Amino acid sequence: MTHLPGAPAKIILFGEHAVVYGQPAIALPVSTLRATASITFDPNGDGTLRIVSDDLTAPLTIRSLADAVDDALAMAVRLAVERLGISLANATITIQSDIPVASGLGSGAAVSTAIVRAVAASAGRVLPNEITNAIVYEVERIFHGTPSGIDNTVIVYETPIYFVRNQPFELIRPREPLHFIIADSGIRASTKLAVGDVRTLLEAEPERIRPVIEAVGALVREAKDCIELGRIDRLGDLMMSNHELLQTLTVSSPELDALVAAALDGGAVGAKLSGGGRGGNMIALVTPQTRASVEAHLRLAGAARLHYTVLNPPAPSDETTSADHA
Ligand code: PMV
Repeated sequence: MTHLPGAPAKIILFGEHAVVYGQPAIALPVSTLRATASITFDPNGDGTLRIVSDDLTAPLTIRSLADAVDDALAMAVRLAVERLGISLANATITIQSDIPVASGLGSGAAVSTAIVRAVAASAGRVLPNEITNAIVYEVERIFHGTPSGIDNTVIVYETPIYFVRNQPFELIRPREPLHFIIADSGIRASTKLAVGDVRTLLEAEPERIRPVIEAVGALVREAKDCIELGRIDRLGDLMMSNHELLQTLTVSSPELDALVAAALDGGAVGAKLSGGGRGGNMIALVTPQTRASVEAHLRLAGAARLHYTVLNPPAPSDETTSADHA
């Protein structure tokens, strides 16, 4: 597969939160929303490294990468530089990203991936995905708590994945094109906080919450079959069930629930929140026939922005195994 520059956004189709506890989850790259990074050198520079991004209020100036411990962007640069065994000074890294931050679309992992790839390219190198994935996971781990690793994996490999924590991922091969609308609630929410709250809930009420997490896992396993067999209506039902289980885990919100209801009113096959929840994005499974109506209903219900994406069956040349992507 030929990949575009930088790194894509992602959506979690099924299994967020439960994936932290060893259950499977399914995630898709959104290749039309991307983060890119480019590096320019100034031979007359003062030896510093600058990081410029629209998401930063001011450029970040780094005198020594060894001291860059409290910033995720700088840490991505540092880990890449160390892995490559190079130095980087008198340089400006410019980041551009279409991916909204703190909204469940993997902005952090996408920006880190773009940085690692740009640093490698500046040295005329290409790091294998396996190494890029390990670096980006490390950045996620330092700055975002106890991530399952699903975000960095789907973003680095840029392929639909069936993911179980600490196991090699499996590729998902849809039988029919799947059409999704991604709708932003406009509310920024901390995944770290939501993940922490689910852990607190599980520890407080294991008898009630453990079965909920296991039910998510069972549903994800069935969803994989539905995607691969083209059982679109059942997939929609499973999205609804997953959303209800996420409500029980307390990670939905009135705004997300309203968007899910609006998508169904508009004729969506199914809908659910996607990612950490409490805000951020939801996804609706639609058909080419219902797309316009679902979009109209989502706008009326207050969606801050919409994005349309299609998961297509693999082209014959894409028929590889996960080992081929390492
Ligand atoms: O980064 P987000 O908001 O898409 O959430 C990632 C998915 C979680 O399952 C909530 C956390 C994780 O590490 O898997």
